[in-house]
Order: sequence, then structure tokens, then C-alpha cells
Amino acid sequence: YTQAIRASFFDITRTVDQPQQLPDVARYLEDGLLLLNQGCIVSLSAWEEGQHLLHPDLEPLDYRGKLIVPGFVDTHIHYPQTEMVGSYGEQLLEWLNQYTFPVESQYHCPQHAARMSAFFLQQLLSNGTTTALVFGTVHPQSVDALFTAASALEMRLIAGKVMMDRHGPDALMETPEESYQQTRELIERWHNHGRLSYALTPRYAATSTPELLEKVQQLRHEFPDTWLHTHLSENLQEIAWIKELFPEHNGYLDVYHQYQLTGQRSLFAHCLHLEDHEWDCLHHTDSAIAFCPTSNLFLGSGLFDLKTCWHKGVKMGIGTDIGAGTTFNMLQTMGEAYKVGQLQRYKLSACEAFYHATLGGAKALDLDDRIGNFMPGKEADFVVIDPAVSPLQQMRHTNSRDIWEKLFVLMTLGDDRNIAATWVNGRCVWEVNAPAVNS
Ligand code: GUN
Ligand code: FE
Repeated sequence: YTQAIRASFFDITRTVDQPQQLPDVARYLEDGLLLLNQGCIVSLSAWEEGQHLLHPDLEPLDYRGKLIVPGFVDTHIHYPQTEMVGSYGEQLLEWLNQYTFPVESQYHCPQHAARMSAFFLQQLLSNGTTTALVFGTVHPQSVDALFTAASALEMRLIAGKVMMDRHGPDALMETPEESYQQTRELIERWHNHGRLSYALTPRYAATSTPELLEKVQQLRHEFPDTWLHTHLSENLQEIAWIKELFPEHNGYLDVYHQYQLTGQRSLFAHCLHLEDHEWDCLHHTDSAIAFCPTSNLFLGSGLFDLKTCWHKGVKMGIGTDIGAGTTFNMLQTMGEAYKVGQLQRYKLSACEAFYHATLGGAKALDLDDRIGNFMPGKEADFVVIDPAVSPLQQMRHTNSRDIWEKLFVLMTLGDDRNIAATWVNGRCVWEVNAPAVNS
């Protein structure tokens, strides 16, 4: 190893298919030792057991008093919408027309895209998010800017250019052929470039003609290891509209399914109003869901059904869905997920919430062999959390009896103040009160 870190550690050691199994696979080391080498995890052990492994000339980095957890995984976010968080008064379809499309129209400009990419990645890192699945805009230069910035930080990031050829303003329209060509060039430039991967990103069914969906299908066939990232079943008006636009299909998901866009690396954001057969289709195709609680509440879209998601055996990660979502912070997002559960009498435990935000999200992205916990060989992406940064947090931290209560208090009261440092690929890339690493 070349680096050693002493702190408290929490992670989930393997994926599960029932929430009841989680406490058995969770690991908490109050005084732990993490060894790293070349950006990867060598081992995590109790300090008592691990200290004999230490070279006498390599002093461990002392983060005692802090809690280190795996880097958060944000499974659905739009980087160009950073500049429109908190747009007032509308639900999905009007919100898109009134606020979103005008903002996204600016990303033809590479300087604007570069400036916003840098800002966006700093927001992710300062909130402890080390991996995200990201929407760009229809402009290929939006994605070039984002990948260029992420590459400098060595982040594991999946992103794609939006594909859309109807029901938007002229500034965001393209032909299916242009969409195909530009996407293809981006895949060739960025997919599997270091830690970067490409996601085919049709915005949603309503902005896609059948001809565009055919192009997406063709690309997926030609590049079978790319991801597929889109929206599904978010808003009731949206769903009724999709059924009008695609009357020959058996509901919303069937549009994607018929173009063979379901599957292992397919990720569908929202999934709030699924029919039973749609849950079954997601399960059978091994597709995944991004649950975006702050967005679903902000746009009044609906309540995600956590219980059915486990029951149907569908993989799920958490997304912030900035800019319909209201925070980059995964602790706050977990706190809102808990409240979404409460409104349906579902008790989302801290253990389950942290699972979805780390290893579960990694699994949803088919990255659980690389990130999501501190198992040997995993990539060293993690967050150093200060568990108490206010008088109220201090009181609730010290009067909590065990790690489960402490984690639950963190997701209830925590925010970006609790993120002390963020490490990516074995390097500290963000630290509170320190100048940002230049990207
Ligand atoms: N459906 C289609 N586009 C969007 C978007 O940008 N945000 C959200 N929340 N839903 C969408
Ligand atoms: Fe979204």
C-alpha cells in the first residue's frame, strides 16, 4: 500500500435483494484502518487488527472523529439544469417549456458549457458525490465540456448528449440522423476513456419520434456496453400524453421496450406510476430505476413505491435530478426519501438509505464491481463526514445510542456542511476550507 487512513468507517459489504438482509452485510468500524494503493482499496480493518500491517515510515492520515463512507452515487442528474434549481410554480410539462428548454438552449456555447461543467463537478464533490449518471443537452459540445472536466478529476462518470427531435423549441431540435452521428462520435471519443462511460440519452418518449428511437436502438446494438438513460412514468399528464403519441404500444415503458432499450445497463428515472406489468418488465429485463425524492416532491409528481420496488426485485439507486430536484446533497436527499416512505407507511431505515446511495446505486449502474464499498480492489472513492457541525447535530450525535441512530440523524439533519473531504481515485479532490483542486 502507499496510503493509510485512520477513522471510523461504514459500508455495505455486498448487494442484497431484501432490505431485511442489510444489517447483516453492513460493516461499522469505530476505529478503522483503510489501506490504499494506486487509487484502489487494499484493505479495511479494525485499527487493532490492522496496525501491524503499517510500515514504520508511513504515518497514517488521522481522520479520527470523522466517519468515512463510500462516495455517494447520484443515479440521475442534469448538469445544465444547475442554473435553474428552484424554478417556481409549475409541474413537469409546463416546467420543461417555461424554464428548462430556454436554459438548455444556451449550451451550444462551449465556454458556457465549460464554466457550468466546472461548477457542477465542484457541487458534486463538495456534497460527497463521486459518481453520477448525467444528462447533458442536445449539443454535443455540452458533453465534451463535462467529460473534459471530469477527466481532469479522474471521476467515474457516465453521461450523454440528449437526443430529442420533437416537442421542444427549434434551438433544441435535431434530426434522427444528426442525433445518431453526433452520439456516435461522442461514444468513440469518450466511452471507456479512463473512468468515463457513455449513456445513450433520449430525453423521454414525448420528445422522440419513432425514427429517433430506431437510431437509439441501432446505437445500442452497435455499442452494446454503453448505458441507456431516460425518464419514465413521472407525471400523470405526461403518461396520458405518451399513450396518445404511441397508441400502438402497451403503455409508457413498452415504447422503450419495443425499441430494445430496456436491459442491464438501462436506467429509468422516476417510475412513479408504473402498472404491474411494467414493474415485471423492469425486473425481467434487469433494468434499473433512479428514485428522485426531492424532484418528485418539488414538481408534485408523486410518491415512489419503495416497498413494491423491493418486492418486484427491481434495482434502484437514488438521484437528485437537479434542477427539478432541490439539492446536490445525498444526505438531504435520503432524508426526503424517508419522508416519501412515511407518506406511504414505509419505514426507510438509515441502513437502507445509505445502501441505495452507495452500493445499491452502484449496482443499479452495473458498477458494483468497481465502486460502492471498501472491499479490496474497489476504486478508492469516499467521503469524509463530519458527523456533527451544529449545536443541534452535536446534541443528537452524542445522545444517539448506536451507529444506526447516528446515521439516521445525519440523513435527517445533515447537509453539505457535514462533508469534510471527498476522495476520488485515491486522491483528496475536495476539502472543506481548502482551495478547490483545479480541473
Ligand atoms: N422529463 C423529460 N425531461 C425531463 C427533465 O429535464 N426533467 C425531469 N424531471 N423530467 C423530464
Ligand atoms: Fe430528470
